[in-house]
Amino acid sequence: MQSDSVYLQRLSWPVWQKHGITVDVLRLDRLDELISGNKAFKLQPWSPPNTPQRPLLSFGGAWSNHLHALAAAGQRWGVSTWGIVRGEPPATAHAAIQDLERMGMQLMFIDRETYRRREEPAFRLSLQAQIGEFELIPEGGNCPASILACQQIWSFIPDQEKWDVLVCAMGTGATLAGLISGRGSRKTQLLGISSLKISTPELEVMVRLALARAGQSDPGGWQVQPSTLRYGALNGHLASLFQRSEALGLPLDPIYTLRALDGLLHRVLAGELPVGSKVLLLHTGGLQGVRGQRARIECLSPAFQGPMPL
Ligand SMILES: Cc1ncc(COP(=O)(O)O)c(C=O)c1O
Repeated sequence: MQSDSVYLQRLSWPVWQKHGITVDVLRLDRLDELISGNKAFKLQPWSPPNTPQRPLLSFGGAWSNHLHALAAAGQRWGVSTWGIVRGEPPATAHAAIQDLERMGMQLMFIDRETYRRREEPAFRLSLQAQIGEFELIPEGGNCPASILACQQIWSFIPDQEKWDVLVCAMGTGATLAGLISGRGSRKTQLLGISSLKISTPELEVMVRLALARAGQSDPGGWQVQPSTLRYGALNGHLASLFQRSEALGLPLDPIYTLRALDGLLHRVLAGELPVGSKVLLLHTGGLQGVRGQRARIECLSPAFQGPMPL
């Protein structure tokens, strides 16, 4: 990891000033070109010298940031990788699939019904029968080793005592669980903003399960917030926010970090952050995924009529 390439970026938008808060972004995406953001931590348990001899296998969608980073890690660490991909193979391989193949990842596309059974022992056995022994990394790296590795994110945060709220994009909740369990006695409150449009109690259960699976107790001091849009969906507001951030030198990915920023914006507009709050938003990487959504962003953004409350 290139820790000296991580930096803080101040988001000097009038909306924050109007509500009396400051927002900085911790550019963890700069940790590495390919194994960036939270992936640098989540995949660390398999990095040399702990890289196993047998292939690393994991799951994800065709545009999965996790599979992309795993393929890059496998190529760099000299271990073969398998990506079990949700859904039919696209008629022509898009940029992400091309990347995975170029980095040497072997792909197996499975229908959504079978994908839902990916955690079942019978499915694992059928995979073994087809491809031999492998080291399984659960979808999104949501396993104890990755969660514990995410505790180390704290050591990349400058001015540890300064932050009132730490905002983190959430998928499986593994990264957030690592941050929660690594928080220690710091006063910083954690806010996980999900890419999923499910209920807050369901999100809370996900995080508690991740903590329990990693053998960590729940010290409290955290909240979760669902996405306002279903997973992967985009609308004019998000597309405009994406373009505004990019124009100001903050590239975000539409599935995770853009939603985290949007969720924060909603909170602030609802007056839910006390005046004087110092907010730190983690940039968890995933920028490769932008390529899959750029055309839609460019189509949706000009059609957006509403005011952009920035
Ligand atoms: C860029 C980015 N940020 C955040 C997340 C969410 O991470 P987690 O699954 O640990 O909640 C992901 C998911 O893989 C991601 O790709």
